[in-house]
Amino acid sequence: MLTYRLVSRVIAVFLFLESLLAYAVADLLSSLASISDGALRFTYPGQPDYPQASEPFNLRFSYKPAAIAYVDNVDQVSEVVKVGYDLGYNVVARSGGHSYVAGGLGQKDGSLVIDLSNLTYFAMNQPTAIASIGSGLRIGQVATHLDYWGRALPHATGAYVGWGGQTGYGGYGFSTRMWGLTLDMVVSARVVLANGTAVTASKEENPDLFFAIRGAAPSFGIITSTTVQTWRPPSNTTVYQYAWGMDSPTATAAFDAFQNYSLNAEIPAALGVEFVLVPGEVRGNVTLLLSGTWYGPAEELESVLGPLLDVLPTPRSGTFDVGDYLNSVKNLAGGSLDVSAPNTHSTFYVKSLITPQKEPLTVEAMNAFIAYIANEGFDTDLGWFLQIGLLGGTNSQINSVPADETAFPHRDSLYMMQLYAYTQGDVLPFPEHGFTFVDGIVESFTNNMPEDWDYGAYTNYLDDRLPDYESRYYKGNLPRLKELKRKYDPTGVFDIPSAIKP
Ligand SMILES: Cc1cc2nc3c(=O)[nH]c(=O)nc-3n(C[C@H](O)[C@H](O)[C@H](O)COP(=O)(O)OP(=O)(O)OC[C@H]3O[C@@H](n4cnc5c(N)ncnc54)[C@H](O)[C@@H]3O)c2cc1C
Ligand SMILES: *[C@@H]1O[C@H](CO)[C@@H](O)[C@H](O)[C@H]1NC(C)=O
Ligand SMILES: *[C@@H]1O[C@H](CO)[C@@H](O)[C@H](O)[C@H]1NC(C)=O
Ligand SMILES: *[C@@H]1O[C@H](CO)[C@@H](O)[C@H](O)[C@H]1NC(C)=O
Ligand SMILES: *[C@@H]1O[C@H](CO)[C@@H](O)[C@H](O)[C@H]1NC(C)=O
Ligand SMILES: *[C@@H]1O[C@H](CO)[C@@H](O)[C@H](O)[C@H]1NC(C)=O
Repeated sequence: MLTYRLVSRVIAVFLFLESLLAYAVADLLSSLASISDGALRFTYPGQPDYPQASEPFNLRFSYKPAAIAYVDNVDQVSEVVKVGYDLGYNVVARSGGHSYVAGGLGQKDGSLVIDLSNLTYFAMNQPTAIASIGSGLRIGQVATHLDYWGRALPHATGAYVGWGGQTGYGGYGFSTRMWGLTLDMVVSARVVLANGTAVTASKEENPDLFFAIRGAAPSFGIITSTTVQTWRPPSNTTVYQYAWGMDSPTATAAFDAFQNYSLNAEIPAALGVEFVLVPGEVRGNVTLLLSGTWYGPAEELESVLGPLLDVLPTPRSGTFDVGDYLNSVKNLAGGSLDVSAPNTHSTFYVKSLITPQKEPLTVEAMNAFIAYIANEGFDTDLGWFLQIGLLGGTNSQINSVPADETAFPHRDSLYMMQLYAYTQGDVLPFPEHGFTFVDGIVESFTNNMPEDWDYGAYTNYLDDRLPDYESRYYKGNLPRLKELKRKYDPTGVFDIPSAIKP
């Protein structure tokens, strides 16, 4: 009897919660339906287009947003944010949807997603060479527009990456040593705040917000467009790649030579370079690629890389794609800037590591790292690639910006590492041993560096399993960012799991 009463009470409470939830959802849907006199397009669970609309780039995740609204202008963004603010929903922007952790879906169930893919505005002010760029454009489209105007920008290499997400968190590519990160080019941004108010952020207007949205944008607002200072592209570019098969001791020596070159050689700003490791052909070996882009006359590349190549074994191969600037952008994007085909997917886990220039890797750390990937990396059933990109070195524009000028704090760094492991054929699930494998790569470094080694991590290579993510991402800027979070988003409208906590 008691049990029956208990059960029925539980059921009653459950039904009550259910109906509350149903009311809340009905409120949400009716509020969205009233925006722009019913002209706002949106989808929600149960609609035929919902499964595809809520598909993330990284298939490791499957989140169910409460609704996805497709906006056409800033006013609609404001209206939708106000609905979320009033009804207590977490609101997130989705620009290109290429977050590593399904950030554009809110990194959990029940968020209100604002899809910006129709904000494809692009304009060039010719006298100032300042471009206005809608957040919904993809990198491939931005590069194509810029080329039309004879201009260029530093940015990510992937053509499908969204302008909004990429720029709000960083924007790293081979031209960033020469020009700076994408976010360093931002002159102003149009930002919809947590309460739905649209404001401009620039050096002159809301300068504290301007600081925050260059590196931590998703925690502070929805950027509908940015204006950016563009560059005159170099007339000649060479996309290069050298390859070696190496045993562990040879690869460790090569890494040491690369670090020595990175720290001590006179490296022109026009050199983008990374040291890439992929699986070796036999256990105990690795395949090493030295690749990048040289934004100067082709015949000078050899002398620029000379101090490094001279101390490495003879490469197994070398490829050189010489052309104009656009040719390099296309090459790095995999051959095309066209983004009309549907999005592709991957099932993966990434960790990043930004190493301080003042505390270079020890030989023990390089040795442990190479031994780990030459052995455990050979045994694993996962696919993987490890990119160790040069952020610093002499003449780096990234490091010429003061650490507290933008939210991106890594201004005295040597390497930007991306440690990427994926399931073959992108099959699900991503296995538990995949996490262990990638954790082990980072530990091969950190276990062989001083306890207080001050490394960082990169927000655009977002890691959902990084416990101390706030300090690794934002370092010394964190206290100021937390204070600004309390000012601009006091009720936590933009509180997704990887956001800055107030
Ligand atoms: C194939 C591929 C290649 C890549 N190559 C590079 C590279 O070379 N260099 C590099 O630096 N990065 C690179 N990245 C990482 C990429 O920059 C990030 O994943 C980026 O955040 C994706 O932006 P998005 O708009 O496509 O993603 P989304 O998933 O739409 O957004 C990412 C995050 O930003 C938030 N957000 C999106 N738009 C806005 C906005 N307008 N205002 C406020 N917040 C917003 C979202 O809510 C989410 O949290 C690559 C990623 C992929 C998948
Ligand atoms: C973009 O806008 C056009 C016309 O305004 C509309 O037909 C299309 O469905 C919109 N696309 C998205 C993704 O919202
Ligand atoms: C393994 O590395 C050694 C030494 O660097 C090299 O001579 C050999 O060719 C490599 N083996 C393969 C199969 O790549
Ligand atoms: C380190 O690099 C510098 C500059 O490239 C070079 O002169 C020197 O010989 C290198 N030292 C070693 C031990 O490789
Ligand atoms: C290199 O630059 C020169 C000068 O602008 C130009 O004439 C030439 O076509 C360029 N070469 C390539 C391969 O783009
Ligand atoms: C919205 O938030 C901003 C920043 O906190 C504040 O300045 C503004 O007054 C708020 N607007 C409204 C209508 O509450």
